[in-house]
Amino acid sequence: MEVALRAAGIGWGDEVIVPAYTFQATASAPMAAGAIPVIVDVHPENYCIDPGEIEKAITPKTRAVIPVHLGSNMADMDAIMALAEKHNLIVIEDCAHAHGAKWNGRGAGTIGHFGSFSLQSSKTLTTGEGGILLCRTPELAAKAASIIDCGRPHALGGGPEDDSQEYQVGGNFRLSEIAAALALVGIERFPAQAKEREAMADYMEEALSEIPGIRLLRRDPRHTTRSFYRYIFAIHPEEFGMEHDLLCGALEAEGIEAWTGYEAMNHYTLFQPQKSKLAVPSAFPEYFDFKNMELPTAQRACEHEAVWLEENVFRAGPKGVDDAVAAIKKIQANAGKLNEAAEELRKKST
Ligand SMILES: Cc1ncc(COP(=O)(O)O)c(C=O)c1O
Repeated sequence: MEVALRAAGIGWGDEVIVPAYTFQATASAPMAAGAIPVIVDVHPENYCIDPGEIEKAITPKTRAVIPVHLGSNMADMDAIMALAEKHNLIVIEDCAHAHGAKWNGRGAGTIGHFGSFSLQSSKTLTTGEGGILLCRTPELAAKAASIIDCGRPHALGGGPEDDSQEYQVGGNFRLSEIAAALALVGIERFPAQAKEREAMADYMEEALSEIPGIRLLRRDPRHTTRSFYRYIFAIHPEEFGMEHDLLCGALEAEGIEAWTGYEAMNHYTLFQPQKSKLAVPSAFPEYFDFKNMELPTAQRACEHEAVWLEENVFRAGPKGVDDAVAAIKKIQANAGKLNEAAEELRKKST
């Protein structure tokens, strides 16, 4: 994402809109390029960036937006591309969770100007480390290839080195050839795995939709193929009978890997100017006044609602899903006892 921003000529003092509910890399990439991340809230129905909030945050300094296709959902790419066209913005899709997902039949990462994919060890397509950057034009691809390769000039489309062109300032963002070879093998296995996950997610949703206090995130009908990294659903704590951290802890105890998800971006201490001493927060502290930021949907998801299930639940056939659903029901049936035990523990630790 840093390479994409730099290839698009985005840098010092430019504003880049990012969602409040994502891994910190989505916001640290603009900072690494010298740009300012402007944090906006996500949509309550799918926890992806809310196009209405993007529109409100656009200023004459806005140059780009980085929608994240979070967990098992995709951001509303139609609305985002319409805003980008109107305001002349670059769109970088953060597809770290969305390898192979499709929007209206188009692959995630091919709709914006750039698509950024993580191949890091936790991802569904992995080479242990590294990533893939898709670029909309041969010119952008040549620039990106050069920045990735210590500034060596590359041919249009990002092909071989081209000595007739000038060097630019770059870094070493190269994927090793061994890692690329692993990706070529992994990508052959990937479609079958993605299909299995998609079928099992449909199966799980039938069961989850019958459990009181569980809210499925809305799958947009334009999100034509689902391919996800983690599956996210929401709970209504009062109706379900407990808070999401207690449910996730109990699921872990039942052998089902579960997580409450990321913190809201405005709770990240690492970006705060005094702590980070990074150039961008230090130079533009007014953008990092986190205490005064209102991001109610992201905060509700992070603090009370979201439950993230690992993709392995969806790769063990119907039995994997049945086990997870049975565990959720068992935990809900024992909500009273679990809440009491959690309260005891809390009292002891204070
Ligand atoms: C949403 C999101 N964006 C970006 C990244 C960064 O990817 P990488 O670790 O490959 O740099 C991750 C996870 O690692 C992520 O979850």
